[in-house]
Amino acid sequence: MDAVEIFTALGTPEGRANPYPLYADLHELGEAITLAPGAVMVAGYDAINAILRDPGFRVSDEDRFDHDFPGWRANPVFVQAMDWILNLNGPKHARIRSLMARTFTARRVAELAPAIARMADELLDAMADRGADGSAVEFMHDFAYLLPVTVICELIGIPEADREGFRPVARDLARVFEFDDIAHLPAINAAAVELHAYFTGLATRRRSDPHDDLISDLLAVSDAADGRLSDAELLNNLTLLLVAGFETTTNLLGNGLHVMLEQPEFGAAVADGSVPAAAFVEEALRFDSPVQLTSRIGYETKIGEVMVSDGDMVTTLLGAGNRDPRRFADPDVFRPSRSDGGPVSFGGGAHFCIGAALARIEGGIAFPRLVRRFPKLSAAGEPVRRETFLLRGFDELPVTIA
Ligand code: HEM
Repeated sequence: MDAVEIFTALGTPEGRANPYPLYADLHELGEAITLAPGAVMVAGYDAINAILRDPGFRVSDEDRFDHDFPGWRANPVFVQAMDWILNLNGPKHARIRSLMARTFTARRVAELAPAIARMADELLDAMADRGADGSAVEFMHDFAYLLPVTVICELIGIPEADREGFRPVARDLARVFEFDDIAHLPAINAAAVELHAYFTGLATRRRSDPHDDLISDLLAVSDAADGRLSDAELLNNLTLLLVAGFETTTNLLGNGLHVMLEQPEFGAAVADGSVPAAAFVEEALRFDSPVQLTSRIGYETKIGEVMVSDGDMVTTLLGAGNRDPRRFADPDVFRPSRSDGGPVSFGGGAHFCIGAALARIEGGIAFPRLVRRFPKLSAAGEPVRRETFLLRGFDELPVTIA
């Protein structure tokens, strides 16, 4: 197959359902290929790492949007998204990211562990009630969608009474990551406006009554009176935390469980501790990456044998890099004991996922609790994959627990 045939196949329902044989074909063509003038696709693990760590490759920011989509300012979602650290380069990115990192600390994440365990157990209790008689339980809806959104709400400091209803709004907004149809814009814009209004109100309440939560800490930073973090930057990046950390972690939980359903020995090994939960999570991230790709704007340089020009769109295929046979022995085998390097599922360099530790803790808590609680956990019917390509996961993963 040549590159065009491979990418045509990746766009079909079969290719989306299982891109991995096509990634294997891509690896045979080299680390990177030029798909069309101005479009470079990168599948090699080392090349992906090098690009993400090279400040010459920039994320698509306001300037690029002006060029690609001049009408963007009419859309609240893009106005907000241009403040997201995901879409910032250079000093502005470094300034906001370091202020966020100061509040989103390892300590805060570690302290969330008992609350995550409690929330996971509550969801498992509800699953137990529903599935006690042997009827099917829907893991995605009953667990994987609920745990991450509840955890992020807890982290940010969104009161429990307000959380109901966040999931559909966050989900609507998350569609901006895979934006390919102008018809979705009204719903995405409405979600952006709603979340902005909500965070504006919550910030007002927390300013007069600070709590031990991330929003109060960020407000303290922004109110430090030296203008380091504007209100808009603060509010918009809270929205980013909500949407960036929600479906991604949902998909880690679903994709990991899918491995356990197909190869039950891994569920048993996580349950009895012979495979440490952290090693299972790391291999699940590699094996079926919840985020399959990200992109950068290129500059005059070379990736392997491929020439890159200023302004080229360079797509790094994270899900393919994780199966690069040059890096991973038997890349299509699920092997939690492997020591041939970490996956690129959280990106790398300046934009490395700020929530990676949180996602790892969530997976590390959820999987052992799930398989210890339900030793008879098994598939109940065909899983339904999401049609999305960038965010890879399931819509439905029915299981029986008794
Ligand atoms: C398994 C779960 C997750 C995966 C696979 C994932 C993946 C990624 C990737 C690949 C990037 C880099 C994008 C790029 O370089 O263009 C990223 C960035 C980011 N992630 Fe995550 N993520 C996950 C969970 C989370 C969580 C739980 C949060 C927050 C609560 C979060 C917040 C962010 C933010 C704010 C960025 C932007 C960082 C920056 O641009 O400096 N993510 N994530």
